Amino acid sequence: MKVLVIGGGGREHAVCKKLVESPLVDALLCAPGNAGIAQVAACVPEVKATDVPGIVALAKREGVDFVCVTPDDPLALGCVDALEAEGIPTFGPRACAAQMEASKIFSKNLMKKYGIPTAKSEVFDDADAALAYLDTQSAPIVVKADGLALGKGVIVAQTIDEAKQAVVDMMRGGRFGRSGARVLIEECMVGREVTVLCFTDGRVIVPMPASQDHKRVFDGDKGPNTGGMGAFAPSPLYAPDVARRVTDEILQPTLRAMNAEGLDFRGVLYVGLMLTADGPKVVEYNARFGDPETQAVLPLLMSDLMEIMLAVREQRLEQLDIRWRGGAAACVVLASGGYPGKYEGGKVITGIVKAEALGATVYHAGTAVKDGALVTAGGRVLGVTALGDTLADAVRSAYMAAKEIHFDGAHMRSDIGSREL
Ligand code: AMP
Ligand code: GLY
Repeated sequence: MKVLVIGGGGREHAVCKKLVESPLVDALLCAPGNAGIAQVAACVPEVKATDVPGIVALAKREGVDFVCVTPDDPLALGCVDALEAEGIPTFGPRACAAQMEASKIFSKNLMKKYGIPTAKSEVFDDADAALAYLDTQSAPIVVKADGLALGKGVIVAQTIDEAKQAVVDMMRGGRFGRSGARVLIEECMVGREVTVLCFTDGRVIVPMPASQDHKRVFDGDKGPNTGGMGAFAPSPLYAPDVARRVTDEILQPTLRAMNAEGLDFRGVLYVGLMLTADGPKVVEYNARFGDPETQAVLPLLMSDLMEIMLAVREQRLEQLDIRWRGGAAACVVLASGGYPGKYEGGKVITGIVKAEALGATVYHAGTAVKDGALVTAGGRVLGVTALGDTLADAVRSAYMAAKEIHFDGAHMRSDIGSREL
């Protein structure tokens, strides 16, 4: 089969690396891709992940047999619908099902309607009403833009004034454009966060090993939120009794709810959980693989990812026995100095070969080739993943490898996984 992957980050590099291992895949393309993905797939940098007509044209021109749409934006824009309309089998939810992520109000209403545990919340489309409501509440409290906002549309406000400022920025200042025209104000949940990525074909839902992300830029969960500074899997917090509760109280009810609403979700459902004193609750759904969770989860997959994607698309996931290796995987992200604020690109990267010689896998997130040299080209630059018999082993190996890699201003957290060790 000739397969096209849409996207160009560390997550897509991990997906592409798994797909080329499959005997079913003869040729792999990636749009736009990046310098690391170019080692395993033919990249098409001129076709951006949000360019749905360009993606359809590329798929037709190249005669691809299957497409995997990985990032949130093209899913929300109906990329899967457009490809399927041309008769091209595609992995990922259609736009209507991708609302599970693209509209936080949509998914909140679904959870409310079907009794799926989550934070209590109110919806506002008028800034004055939102501000008046905040006067009746106490902090901490969470303000969320309804739509996609590059992972930055959530403010966990420590004071009511901070929450009011967030409402003003989003609803009057147009901070996230149309995504912030409607907001949710919700109860702040307290607990530990775990991510459960699930394959679902609309008939069954199959969780992958649970993982944990590290969203803040500095050690000890300090500093601003980022796209994710590291991840590991499986999560020791996700003990068998927790897993059972999540399956019974969240995963199965979510599948039933999506079907009752006619969503026919086929792809990866990302379930972000807060393990609270009252039990597990949903923080958010995403309609795709997580980044960087995928860089820690997919290396544990022993089964053929292409076979799984085909089974999801053809609704025969139940027939597959998806196998995972024992032990653990840890991914440490190397970011540009200054990220998630301003940073400079174009810094020469060295040491990847040495890092991989130590047994690690280096996933490229924001890299490019300039004058024959590999250089930085994004906030998150690389993700260094290592496997181990235990989480401690995996973390140690990931750091040993990551320390071989150098570029001006490189920043990594030094405490990935340390809370669980
Ligand atoms: P999201 O973009 O929905 O993943 O939210 C980003 C982060 O905000 C989450 O990973 C949580 O750490 C935090 N968050 C979101 N909603 C809540 C909530 N209701 N209570 C506490 N923290 C939250
Ligand atoms: N790691 C968070 C996300 O992928 O949204």
